[in-house]
Amino acid sequence: MTADKADIFYMQRCLQLAVKGLGRTRPNPLVGCVVVKDGVVVSEGYHQEYGHNHAERNALLRQGDFRGATLYVNLEPCSHFGKTPPCADLIVEKGISRVVCCNDDPNPLVAGRGFAKLEAAGIEVVRHVLEDEGRELNRRFFTFMEKKRPYVILKWAESADGFMAPAAAGNYWISDDVQTALSHRMRTEEAAILVGSQTYLDDRPRLTARRYRGLDPLPIVLDRRGRLHNVPPHWLHLQCQSLDEVMHLLRQRNVQSLIVEGGRTILDAFIAEGLYDEVVLFRGCRNFGDGLRAPAVPPLPEGRLHIM
Ligand SMILES: NC(=O)c1ccc[n+]([C@@H]2O[C@H](COP(=O)([O-])OP(=O)(O)OC[C@H]3O[C@@H](n4cnc5c(N)ncnc54)[C@H](OP(=O)(O)O)[C@@H]3O)[C@@H](O)[C@H]2O)c1
Ligand SMILES: [Zn+2]
Repeated sequence: MTADKADIFYMQRCLQLAVKGLGRTRPNPLVGCVVVKDGVVVSEGYHQEYGHNHAERNALLRQGDFRGATLYVNLEPCSHFGKTPPCADLIVEKGISRVVCCNDDPNPLVAGRGFAKLEAAGIEVVRHVLEDEGRELNRRFFTFMEKKRPYVILKWAESADGFMAPAAAGNYWISDDVQTALSHRMRTEEAAILVGSQTYLDDRPRLTARRYRGLDPLPIVLDRRGRLHNVPPHWLHLQCQSLDEVMHLLRQRNVQSLIVEGGRTILDAFIAEGLYDEVVLFRGCRNFGDGLRAPAVPPLPEGRLHIM
């Protein structure tokens, strides 16, 4: 009942397929699936979009005789009726004889039930293959489930000499076209994006992903004192007094990931409360000489600081 080299290889393929859904499956996790029979891949699938088929269903609804095959999937197959019927039932129905999985379902109400259903049907189940890699891939989903708050990415742009804005008021640019496109791609990958009331007043940012193809995140502005009027109706205009309250509201709305885009005061507030998982810093090539200093990069686990 242990994993061998081939199991690791096919699980890597599942993760590679899963990531193709990035930006479109939220709030669902990224899931890929591979079906192998007699040493040959006979089908593949991944969860492409929220509300559409799960990875296992996409793989098993293809033509083919899957009896006696091994099914690889990076998340425990579901056992309940959601937007689609349970994948565990389909796996049993198709005559799969072995299931190799990466991560258990983190939801305590469903965890273990998918595996129990498979085992009850006589299917051999191997768990926790490439578990760390799977958690990394679905870090937004796992953070949300375990910490009960969105995965938080602090993001800012700074001039070559470390300023977020020049001293003089008016339009200014730090990022070049490639950096802008990258930051817009980032926006397609996360559920929401937030700025402070001062940034809203100074810059009137649109916070859309217009320079990249994909979904826009939910735009949010924090306005403790209620200084803002006429915030566009599709924005979430929050008048919370604390970030705890903000996190609580986002949890209720099932917002699993959040870009904190500034300004300095808001970034400092998130840093002071330890509310961050990742930092993405865009560094421009011009010097400003003076202005609003960018925050110091806070302590982060390895691999969680990205300088673009
Ligand atoms: N380079 C970049 O990446 C970048 C990104 C964004 C902005 N900027 C620049 O940054 C400047 C604005 O930065 P800023 O530091 O002055 O303002 P800011 O961080 O955008 O907004 C600060 C305001 O947010 C409100 N707020 C709401 N909830 C809060 C909380 N829990 N903790 C702290 N504040 C909270 C407070 O005002 P109330 O109490 O009135 O609500 C506070 O004064 C702009 O000039 C903009 O151009 C640069
Ligand atoms: Zn499913």
